[in-house]
Amino acid sequence: MSTSIESVLQEHRIFNPSPEFVAQANVSGMDAYKALCAEAEADYEGYWGRLAREHIVWKQPFSTVLDETKAPFYKWFPDGKLNVSWNCLDKNVEAGLGDKTAIIFEADQGEVTKVSYRELLGRVARFANALKGLGVKKGDRVIIYLPMSIEGVVAMQACARIGATHSVVFGGFSAQSLRDRIEDAGAVLIITADEQCRGGRNIPLKPAVDEALTLSGTDSIKNVVVYQRTGGPSVMTAGRDVWWHEVVANQSDVCEPEWVEAEHPLFLLYTSGSTGKPKGVQHSTGGYLLHSILTMKWTFDLKPDDVFWCTADIGWVTGHTYITYGPLACGGTEIVFEGVPTFPNAGRFWQMIQNHKVNIFYTAPTAIRSLIKAAEGNPDVAHPKNFDLTSLRVLGSVGEPINPEAWMWYYENIGGGRCPVMDTFWQTETGGHVITPLPGVTPLVPGSCTLPFPGIMVSVVDEAGHDVEWGKGGFLVIKRPWPSMIRTIWNDPERFKHSYFPEDLGGKLYLAGDGAVRDAQTGYFTIMGRIDDVLNVSGHRMGTMEIESALVSHPLVAEAAVVGKPHDIKGEAVVAYVVLKRSRPVGEEAKQIVKELRDHVGHEIGPIAKPDEIRFGDNLPKTRSGKIMRRLLRTLAKGEEITSDVSTLENPHILDQLKEVVK
Ligand code: PRX
Repeated sequence: MSTSIESVLQEHRIFNPSPEFVAQANVSGMDAYKALCAEAEADYEGYWGRLAREHIVWKQPFSTVLDETKAPFYKWFPDGKLNVSWNCLDKNVEAGLGDKTAIIFEADQGEVTKVSYRELLGRVARFANALKGLGVKKGDRVIIYLPMSIEGVVAMQACARIGATHSVVFGGFSAQSLRDRIEDAGAVLIITADEQCRGGRNIPLKPAVDEALTLSGTDSIKNVVVYQRTGGPSVMTAGRDVWWHEVVANQSDVCEPEWVEAEHPLFLLYTSGSTGKPKGVQHSTGGYLLHSILTMKWTFDLKPDDVFWCTADIGWVTGHTYITYGPLACGGTEIVFEGVPTFPNAGRFWQMIQNHKVNIFYTAPTAIRSLIKAAEGNPDVAHPKNFDLTSLRVLGSVGEPINPEAWMWYYENIGGGRCPVMDTFWQTETGGHVITPLPGVTPLVPGSCTLPFPGIMVSVVDEAGHDVEWGKGGFLVIKRPWPSMIRTIWNDPERFKHSYFPEDLGGKLYLAGDGAVRDAQTGYFTIMGRIDDVLNVSGHRMGTMEIESALVSHPLVAEAAVVGKPHDIKGEAVVAYVVLKRSRPVGEEAKQIVKELRDHVGHEIGPIAKPDEIRFGDNLPKTRSGKIMRRLLRTLAKGEEITSDVSTLENPHILDQLKEVVK
């Protein structure tokens, strides 16, 4: 766990919402928040049912709110029918927002394209018709492997329109990772691009798809649709690959939506757990949409004229909920950004906020920390003081704990001391925010995600599933099912049950996988980091076992253990301890093998998983029963001395070898 209880308790700064903000807020003041919580407490189904009726347009209304008969496989609004794409697009056009800008796309090199709701609907309908023309039908799984683009949003919305279940794979994952996801999902089609443009470079994307499709387990794929982003060289396989612009060319811009049951799987999103294999988190249609809408309105206080910008990639859940679905379902105007925060220089985000008059800005602590460093290193170019950021009203943070120093910098330098910072805690599995301040409600404490979203029954429990006292650490759980929760793990319902509803906690509590503590006085939550073998590297969730499996699949490697260590910018860095099948390498040979192993992990998983450090040993520290002592490896990774008794180790001398980092 990365945050200590002491540091939490030392944080005394409190920032109250201004009366002006409270007066205009969608949830206005603590009493309004408490009233919502009390309503949920008193009549849980009544509360969610009311919200689902008020915020979603249903084709067929639901009569049941929550079906718990097959718990923990909960069903929300099961007899209701709707279409997410209709709720995001047609609904807004019908409400007179046809000419309103839905998306402001800014390309890597700075070109700006604006798309209205009417145009977006037309593009989604044409692409949806093209998918149907390729034989894609309700329930089919479609892999989306696209860069940040209008097409990315269109592809996801088009799948939703025809009832196909999308599974977006982040463009930084390798061919091998893509293969694993294609096979597990049994996907019929892939949507990709020739290349992606990032940081002034064109990076090929299609070749990874081509490589994945040479691997076993991918026969289910019938077609690959290729969006021509750059026109760079692409090999098209006849009969399988088709250009996006060609398949949409003669399509009608009308496409009757497929009205699906509320429980119909809108998407699968693969994420890391504590075993080697990523799990396909399955989300629903109705409950998921409801939470995307509510959190946009309540956490971000979205107003009709706002420009909203979430900097996440559509390859992660944040990009699903707060780019593809939430902002559009609320009829908002949002930024979609292709590039990186440091190109052409590290003032890019601030420049874009100024140019587009962004009102709500949502990013990750790792980005904030690296931009603090850049601003300090190059104050004339990259410091936010050079830009007019007065359009901002609300700031958000997501993906990892935000350290109080970064919080304060964000609050003062980006928000001008005027914009509340929403430290939103949630996960791929929760679909949307579960613990978060609300900007017109919650007094803010830097480093705390504060209080539950109204209606989400969050708690901290001990090993037997009993609530712990405030001030004591424990496991973060959610006590009642909520509409946007994970429905199952695709192909693995048993794993769903035991990962998230473990029997030792009584089988009814959703176990988030994070440690947490509630402040003894205020009850505010602070997240203390994962309790399982999951790392959070630059806000990217990585399983240590996944990286270990990748290392061990290299012919030279006999054994590997991966741990995290604190990192100033990334939050956590990946440290790998490796035992080779041959003797322990030193000097140049060690350097050479480090390079080879890092490249290998890049090939097996993707560049984001490459270990920051590799250390070689003749063995790993093990107990006499053969268990690897990860606690010791974590201590060594931090460069700290081991003070505990190591006499029970099979091989204590190995620890000295493992102190040595190959530079
Ligand atoms: O450990 C928590 C951390 O990110 C994990 C979820 O990762 P992922 O499913 O990739 O989703 C990230 C975006 C929602 C959590 O289990 N995490 C996320 N947000 C926060 C956080 N840790 C502390 N504070 C947060 N605000």
